[in-house]
Amino acid sequence: MQTITLHDKQFKPFISETELDDAVTRLANQVANDLGDEVPVFIGILNGSFMLVSDFVKKYPKPCEVTFIKLASYEGVKSTEDIQRLIGLTQDLTGRTVVILEDIIDTGNTLVEVHRIFENENVKQLLIATLFYKPEAYKKDFKLHYVGIEIPNKFIVGYGLDYDGLGRDLPAVYQLKTTQHMTNLVLFGPPGAGKGTQANFLKEKYDLVHISTGDVFRYNIKNQTALGTLAKSYMDKGHLVPDQVTIDMLEAEVERNAGAKGFIFDGFPRNETQAKALDKIMTAKDSEVSAMVALEVEDEVLVQRLLERGKTSGRKDDSDESIIRNRIKVYYNETAILKDYYAAQNKYFGVDGIGSIEDITKRLNTVIDKL
Ligand code: IMP
Ligand code: MG
Repeated sequence: MQTITLHDKQFKPFISETELDDAVTRLANQVANDLGDEVPVFIGILNGSFMLVSDFVKKYPKPCEVTFIKLASYEGVKSTEDIQRLIGLTQDLTGRTVVILEDIIDTGNTLVEVHRIFENENVKQLLIATLFYKPEAYKKDFKLHYVGIEIPNKFIVGYGLDYDGLGRDLPAVYQLKTTQHMTNLVLFGPPGAGKGTQANFLKEKYDLVHISTGDVFRYNIKNQTALGTLAKSYMDKGHLVPDQVTIDMLEAEVERNAGAKGFIFDGFPRNETQAKALDKIMTAKDSEVSAMVALEVEDEVLVQRLLERGKTSGRKDDSDESIIRNRIKVYYNETAILKDYYAAQNKYFGVDGIGSIEDITKRLNTVIDKL
């Protein structure tokens, strides 16, 4: 199951079809056990309960009657006190056991209206059964006789429940994402591909936070943070910094930018362990890596570019052709695994890195605008 968008909002998978099926089965059996041979009247509260009622009565192991009433109480994602009765009762319920079937009980406002409706119906008993219940939101004290699944006080859609009309048809349940859409890019490019330049444009255009692993390391070491000091202790011995230290540093950097619209990761992840850790960091933010974007430039062009740069920059590693070729080789060795990792999720985008800076920026924009 994937994240879905309804109108302007994103929802993430929350309760699967199988879990729903189990919960409905449980509800039906509990009610049946309690009612013995009595023939109950199940009353669904429309619209939300149509799917539940349909599944519930199919699972109900004994004879029963089914009808609906229609109330309206919801606008968008907030409950309103004002509940209207649109279709009322049409049948005599004197002496009957009535079981209300609700899709969800949130504040309990709807229940007040339900109880009012049945006040003068002389029913034998009025039982309340709900598939979903938000205990943190419930403000009334009517007894809930049967509860399928207790859920946190977050807006959900699917299995009859809607967000402004959409989502009722979904066979599974989705939860509103607390973080709305983020663009998180893993940016790659061989030395000389112009990654730094393009990162700056992307950062401006999409209002993203650029996290350069090199900068993060230097910052932590310079400021002697606990992680910086730890990282340095490995570097001083000539050892590689363990993945977990790098991951923790990057995670802290993501946390420091809690409200960001997205990130450009530059120099991270470097291997599959780090890529998986990044997925976890993003999942915890209700988000995900949107794409690995790699600038693609032929080796010969890179070598020429770097040699040119070496003439003016004086950088030693830019003036020796064999060093340059080796850096390019190292880059491809490192990125091959990550390219496969992201390609397997349809998240790898190679962008032609030859041409003017503006042309390359345009190509990147084309990719990113579709994410
Ligand atoms: P209550 O009156 O606040 O208990 O809310 C009951 C009604 O609000 C339900 O029948 C739904 O129509 C709607 N509702 C409450 N919570 C949700 C939700 O998370 N998603 C969609 N509709 C909801
Ligand atoms: Mg309802």
